[in-house]
Order: sequence, then C-alpha cells, then structure tokens
Amino acid sequence: MQDSTRYEELKRTLHATPKTWLITGVAGFIGSNLLETLLTLNQRVVGLDNFATGHRHNLAAAVDDASQSDGWTGRPRSELESLFHFIEGDIRDLDTCRQAMTWQHGDTRIPVDYLLHQAALGSVPRSIDDPITTNQANIDGYLNMLVAARDAKVSRFVYAASSSTYGDHPDLPKIEDRIGNPLSPYAVTKVVNELYADVFARTYGFRSIGLRYFNIFGKRQDPNGAYAAVIPKWIDAMIANQPVYINGDGETSRDFCYIANTIQANLLAATTENPDATNQVYNVAVGDRTTLNDLCGFLLKHLAEAYPHLNDYKPIYREFRAGDVRHSLADIGKAVRLLGYAPSYRIDAGLKESMAWYVAHLDPA
Ligand SMILES: NC(=O)c1ccc[n+]([C@@H]2O[C@H](COP(=O)([O-])OP(=O)(O)OC[C@H]3O[C@@H](n4cnc5c(N)ncnc54)[C@H](O)[C@@H]3O)[C@@H](O)[C@H]2O)c1
Repeated sequence: MQDSTRYEELKRTLHATPKTWLITGVAGFIGSNLLETLLTLNQRVVGLDNFATGHRHNLAAAVDDASQSDGWTGRPRSELESLFHFIEGDIRDLDTCRQAMTWQHGDTRIPVDYLLHQAALGSVPRSIDDPITTNQANIDGYLNMLVAARDAKVSRFVYAASSSTYGDHPDLPKIEDRIGNPLSPYAVTKVVNELYADVFARTYGFRSIGLRYFNIFGKRQDPNGAYAAVIPKWIDAMIANQPVYINGDGETSRDFCYIANTIQANLLAATTENPDATNQVYNVAVGDRTTLNDLCGFLLKHLAEAYPHLNDYKPIYREFRAGDVRHSLADIGKAVRLLGYAPSYRIDAGLKESMAWYVAHLDPA
C-alpha cells in the first residue's frame, strides 16, 4: 500500500479551514459515504438527490455515523446536522442544479467551492433495459450540472466516471488513455461525460476531474432490486441461504475497491493544486485482480462463522451476461503520481471492515 501522508494532511487542513461542497446523488451509496466523511471533517455540504435509487435513510445514517466517528469533536449532533443543506430535486432540471450551487443555513448563504457529482443511474443491465432514462439522468443531467457549475464558478468539478469506458479494449491493466468501444448504453453515457468535461475545459476553461471508478463496495450499497451490485447481493443471498448465481465460469475478474479509497480519491481530486492534475481522468481502484470465484470464497470465509449453513454452500453457475466486460484491472499509477492517491484498503480489509454493517442490515433476524 502507498503512503497516505498527503490525504492525512489534507484532512487536517480541511478540518482547520472548512470549505463548501456539493454532493449530487448524496442519498446513494457513494454520495452518502462522501457526506459522512465531509461532515466528520466539519465541512459545509449541500446535497442533491431525487431518490431515484438512493434512500432518505442513507442521509440519516450518514449524519448518525459522522456524529459517532472518532473525527467528530463531540459537539452536539444538531450542530453537525446544521452543516448539511439537503435539496430534494432532479439534475434533469437546470434550475434545480443552479439552486444547489449555494449552501444555506438560516440567512447565511455560501457559494459551493467543490462539486462531487455522483448522481446517475448506475448498472449496465438497467441501461440495456431502459437506455432512454439512463441517458436522461447520465447525459442530460450531467450537462446541466456542468453548465450550472461553470456559471457558478465552482473551483473544481469532480465527477463519477466509470471503468466501463474501457469497453472492449483488451489491454490489462487498464491505462487511462487506452479505451475501446463501449459495450452498453451505460458505458456510452460515461464516455460522453468525459467528452463533455474535455470540451468544457477547451471552450470555457472549466476545470474538472473524472474518476473512473472500478467496482466500489462498502456500507450503504443497496442489496435490493434487479440491478444490485454483486457484493451486497451475494451477502444478502448467502445470509438467507438463497442461491448465489455466478454469470459464466467464475473466472471473470474485477478490481474491487473499498469505499474509503474512493472517498480519498474524491477529496484529493477536488483540492489538488497541481495544474497538471486537472482536466484529467483517473482510475480509482486498488490494482488487484479478484475473480468472482475468489470473491465468493472471501465472502463465505467472512460469513461462515456466524452462519454455519455456509460451510458447505456452493454458488450456481449460469450463462455469461450481455454487456459484461470479462476482466477489469486498473493501473492506478496516474492517480498515485498526480493526486497522491494511496488506497489504504485491499478487498479483504474492506470486506472485513464492512461485514458488520452488511450483517446488521441484511440479516432479517
Ligand atoms: N458503485 C460502483 O461500483 C460504481 C462504479 C462506476 C461508476 N459509478 C458511478 O458512481 C456514481 C454513484 O454510484 P452509486 O454506486 O453510489 O449509485 P447509487 O444508485 O447508490 O447512487 C446514485 C444516486 O444518484 C441519485 N440520482 C439518480 N438520478 C438522479 C437524478 N436525475 N437527479 C438527482 N439524483 C439522481 C440516486 O437517487 C442515487 O441516490 C454514479 O454516477 C455511478 O454511475 C459507481
């Protein structure tokens, strides 16, 4: 693991001199975790979400968890709540995006310094089922945010890009400037996001950073619904002694990245003063390759003690799924070099840290 000195210094600086942030998609998995960390660091946060896939309870949980974290100073929870200004609204509406560029509390209004754009409809299969709705949120909504952020002169626009942008490019590990053809409507939307960011840099001098997330996991990732991500979906099934389905032979591999690493990348990207680091995209991952068979083994290892029925549990193999990339492994060298990114969790450590949350939230007992 790399040296995380730069991130530790950044957290101290932010704590001492709070900034104002906008998180779109704040009620979702990644957005609510960003909120928790920023509140812990005493930052002012505007949050925007329409609850398309996010949940109101994620907002309450983020504030609760922040108030109980080691970083929070023991001041009352109401003080922490007052740092958070939530707007229920849709990024497909430009006026709503503009409204979100200002933090408000009572008569106090403060413009947003840094924008962390997470709102989108995730999931490759969802985009194959309904490309139009995915396009509206991920391209129309994204463009609204870019325009509103440009006009509000935010210092930095950091947006959730995706490893799906690598598409059918065969090279491993994935290096930022070598991409193939997108394999799904979702991937198209994420490629277009990068193109718009680039054009906004050229035409308006607007500064942004795209973070190509690989498979992110951690607490508050939704286990429910047809489009759930693999880790919460499998843990949910394992605890309930329901079948886990592996699409293909199980040797499909991913670079699973724990949420804490992702938060670190966002904060470093938002605040970097290195001029070479802006108007770039970065892989956000660990640089480890884990097959679905390995993942299944890890999860069973972590769960078997509490759930003895898992001692002889076997997944069920079925057909490969349309639009899925076979292997995904990141080269994280660019983020390490230019942002000082130093992921501190590999998959096993991330699973260990989040397992208590999964069990508490997924076990019906
Ligand atoms: N989780 C991953 O592994 C992963 C990987 C690559 C990229 N991403 C990207 O990261 C971002 C966050 O993903 P996540 O896993 O937290 O997903 P999530 O579904 O938990 O969060 C997305 C949030 O955006 C909100 N949203 C969607 N459409 C909206 C709209 N029109 N207006 C306002 N809010 C809207 C949802 O309600 C939700 O709260 C997304 O852009 C996603 O494409 C995630």
